[in-house]
Amino acid sequence: MKKKIEEKNRSLLVAPSLLSADFSDLKSEIEMINNSMADWFHLDIMDGVFVPNITFGFEIIKHIKKYAKKPLDVHLMIIDPDKYIKQFVEAGADLISVHIEACTHLHRSIQLIKSHGIKAGVALNPHSNVNQLEDIISDIDFVLIMSVNPGFGGQKFIENSFNKINQLKNLIETKKSSALIEVDGGINLNNAKKLYDCGANVLVAGNSVFTSQNPKKIISQLKNISVS
Ligand code: DX5
Ligand code: ZN
Repeated sequence: MKKKIEEKNRSLLVAPSLLSADFSDLKSEIEMINNSMADWFHLDIMDGVFVPNITFGFEIIKHIKKYAKKPLDVHLMIIDPDKYIKQFVEAGADLISVHIEACTHLHRSIQLIKSHGIKAGVALNPHSNVNQLEDIISDIDFVLIMSVNPGFGGQKFIENSFNKINQLKNLIETKKSSALIEVDGGINLNNAKKLYDCGANVLVAGNSVFTSQNPKKIISQLKNISVS
């Protein structure tokens, strides 16, 4: 019964992805998120090797940090992330996720992130099975389930992601882990409620927020999906 009540009151965090923002007017986009119901800024870092796209690095993050009034959730789609963790922390990251597919020594990468006093997450591509997290789930603060293949904003949500969230929720419960479930890719008002009902704690949204005429409204609608 207690669990049911907790479950019902579970909050939902919304993390707009700046990938789809207007970078020629980044300060205004940051202010929009500051003044919205969003919880985190989601920053997509791509190296052109792990994913077929290149985005931005430390200098841009430092500029974002100057104005952002909410935590920076840095999603690293790069190989060899250990090399750069310290610089991402110094640039202003409050949470960092690394990809399971990019880390040979995942446990070491997670400990490295945590040694800087910030939250550590593991991201999974659509083909990666959540059971691979069995021996790391108790060490991490969140799991990022990719619901599109990483690299680009505006892609179509992969339906199998719902199954993965269910499986991950079971694993988290079995292991008594406190890891949050973050979902990233193709999220909009049509699938947000079902994602929340499956167990998602954090929804990342890029295209659906920034292509809207009223981004703040979409953010608040996503945020309120947990009480609808
Ligand atoms: C994709 C990125 C996502 C992306 C989400 O590789 O990790 O964060 O920005 O964008 P939408 O919501 O447009 O799919
Ligand atoms: Zn992302």
